[in-house]
Amino acid sequence: KVKEMFAEIQSKCALPTEKLKQIASAMETEMHAGLASDGGSKLKMLLSYVDKLPTGDEKGLFYALDLGGTNFRVLRVQLGGKKGRVVDQDHLEVSIPPHLMIGACQDLFDFIAEALSRFAALESEEHKLPEGKQRELGFTFSFPVKQLSLSSGTLIKWTKGFSIEEAIGKDVVAELTKAMERQGLDMKVTALVNDTVGTLVGGRYDDSDVMAGVILGTGSNAAYVERASTISKWHGDLPQSGEMVINMEWGNFKSPLLPITEFDEAMDFESLNPGEQIFEKLVSGMYLGEVVRRVLLKVAQEYPIFGDIVPPKLETPFILRTPQMSKIHHDSSPDLKDVGTKLKEVLGIHNTSLKTRKFVVDVCDMVAKRAARLAAAGIYGIIKKIGRDTKSDPKQRTVIAIDGGLFEHYTIFSKCLDDTLKELLGEEMKNSVVITHSNDGSGVGAALIAASHSDN
Ligand code: BG6
Ligand code: GLC
Repeated sequence: KVKEMFAEIQSKCALPTEKLKQIASAMETEMHAGLASDGGSKLKMLLSYVDKLPTGDEKGLFYALDLGGTNFRVLRVQLGGKKGRVVDQDHLEVSIPPHLMIGACQDLFDFIAEALSRFAALESEEHKLPEGKQRELGFTFSFPVKQLSLSSGTLIKWTKGFSIEEAIGKDVVAELTKAMERQGLDMKVTALVNDTVGTLVGGRYDDSDVMAGVILGTGSNAAYVERASTISKWHGDLPQSGEMVINMEWGNFKSPLLPITEFDEAMDFESLNPGEQIFEKLVSGMYLGEVVRRVLLKVAQEYPIFGDIVPPKLETPFILRTPQMSKIHHDSSPDLKDVGTKLKEVLGIHNTSLKTRKFVVDVCDMVAKRAARLAAAGIYGIIKKIGRDTKSDPKQRTVIAIDGGLFEHYTIFSKCLDDTLKELLGEEMKNSVVITHSNDGSGVGAALIAASHSDN
């Protein structure tokens, strides 16, 4: 009976190659629509104002702030100029207290500026700037922003676990600048970037074939290099490079083709942003463990897989985090010992049978692979959009720089993503598209963009 119930859920989650190709095409269609007009699509296709990619000549000491992942980070990057690359890098990492994610705008920005101030105070004397010069920083702000210029932009909406109503519509750089002034910090925000844009730029610094940056972490999103002439909603002058990086905000993609189950619907309904970020809720780390929990709860309510009563902790939303789910999924011991331990530690479930532990692993497998296959379809959609799904030149190589905890730590997920992308690309193309892990690329990317637009 449990088997039958599971088979039914599995069939709803199924994503055969053909269906994934349709999803990639739907993504591509939405990309066109989002580039044609504001509000033309669920995909916002936001202009980043980044129209110059790094050359390697960037030089100097820059700061970067990175807000929107699991941790908030402050970085100091010393760029060495021609072929000098990053010569030195240092960073401070702090987690944002949950009450600040849903509190007052000023409190959040004060917290950030205070961390920056603490970190900047540690700057060594030898780096001190001449009188009258200001330190510059790149601000990676990983939420949808309508950019007004490279260094300003208003928040469209919050995503992931953040929800501070009064900040919507405000210029986040102005908010940060005010908070820095309150700290007595003499610094200037030169570039405001999304984490996907930072990852793309950081990746391009190391490899000139990087065409897109993807985040698979708490949230999920992608940015890519678009030909500026195809952005019909852009009425400004065409950039000299002829290119512009577009922040897709693919987390908000939605299509009747997506394999949405009752569990996803219920989770969405109870979320901070119902009806929004549907693709993100199927793909990203914030949600995968929660979907698994909901499936296990439903099964436990109907069948005594965990004993006669439904384990009370299993009813707590978000109690099962994706890193714990990953640990369960990667247990390769014959008796699934780690699965047993996690079930005990996290859900208070004791003495499970091997059969039950296997079932829990199967649920994780279904949810993780559905996510990985969908992420691969998204990437394939970008590859199609930029015409890299066929070979014009035998040496053509397309690199996708990826970052985020889900991609970095959930090996079964990243392997499935890679395999699925190859499956979609087919024999002829599968080796000309490469995925790389761009570790912390988004902070370095933000510093690079700040450097290439610096006044100093
Ligand atoms: C980091 C990037 O490496 O990955 C961040 O520098 C990004 O900008 C983050 O937001 C996403 O990862 P996670 O897993 O912490 O959400
Ligand atoms: C969410 C944000 C997006 C960000 C992504 C990854 O989808 O809206 O801006 O890039 O998370 O952090």
